[in-house]
Amino acid sequence: MPVIFATAPGKAILFGEHAVVYHRPAIAVPVMQVRAKAAVSPLPQSAYSQIQIQAPEISLEANLSDLPLDDPLAMAVRGTLDALKISIPPAFSLRITSTIPIAAGLGSGAAVSVAIIRAVSAFFGTPLENTRVNELAYRVECRHHGTPSGIDNTVITYAQPLYFVRGQPMEMLPVGSPFTLVIGDTGVSSLTASVVNAVHERRDREPEIVDAYFDRIADITDRARSIITSGEPQEMGPLMTENHHLLRELGVSSPELDRLVDAALSAGAWGAKLSGAGRGGNMIALTPPENAPAVVRALGQAGATRAIVTHIEAAP
Ligand code: PMV
Repeated sequence: MPVIFATAPGKAILFGEHAVVYHRPAIAVPVMQVRAKAAVSPLPQSAYSQIQIQAPEISLEANLSDLPLDDPLAMAVRGTLDALKISIPPAFSLRITSTIPIAAGLGSGAAVSVAIIRAVSAFFGTPLENTRVNELAYRVECRHHGTPSGIDNTVITYAQPLYFVRGQPMEMLPVGSPFTLVIGDTGVSSLTASVVNAVHERRDREPEIVDAYFDRIADITDRARSIITSGEPQEMGPLMTENHHLLRELGVSSPELDRLVDAALSAGAWGAKLSGAGRGGNMIALTPPENAPAVVRALGQAGATRAIVTHIEAAP
């Protein structure tokens, strides 16, 4: 059996994070410049069921049988073998690498799961189709994020811009005109589950206030959806900034995120907001393409540890 590779991109949420957990719509795009990669190689000299896993970025080197049942990498491997109905697999090694920052709102966990599921299923000659890949990756997300909306695994599996409502069939978003995003990393890591929990607690205390924020975010998301498809992307800018202000009111921004958002706007971005769970991680800025280098510079001066420029292409 040859070595099999599979990859999956990162993602950025353009509109609707947090509100999407409560069944409001959200819009997300794949970020192709960063990727998770899984490589599966046969171990012909080893006994059946020996599965070695290496993930150098998190200093992991272990046998599958030694990993806890809820380890996310182990869950992705075991879930795939179960889906293929393989109970005693021939030995193999799985190496996972990723350029997606961890705990930074760019979907690193879901991308690693998708890459593993694709590589392991292809190694056994039965590459799973996207619907199955997405389902299995969602199960891993559930174990680790409590109540994930499913947007991360879905946009990463399909690698297409999408409009997403939890529990409903996803909708690919045909982009009318290309647009450019600069993604700035605060360098502060933030766990999705704890930020989602904090929002949950606030909603328990102040349901009317929090639901009103979600409704306003939903309205912004729906307006953005028609702008994206009709092809006047700069009109999305003010909506992104408004979405950021609502997320700040909700309590999920941070001084670092606010500083990067302000820096991007001062450098000529059409709009900017935090992206993902918040309280750290990444922000995104919508910029005229020719302005991207100036926004990257401004983000660096405002403390960003990294800035990525990504172009979202128009639908063919
Ligand atoms: O920070 P990330 O990449 O895990 O994105 C989380 C998005 C939330 O809406 C906050 C949670 C969810 O499950 O949709």
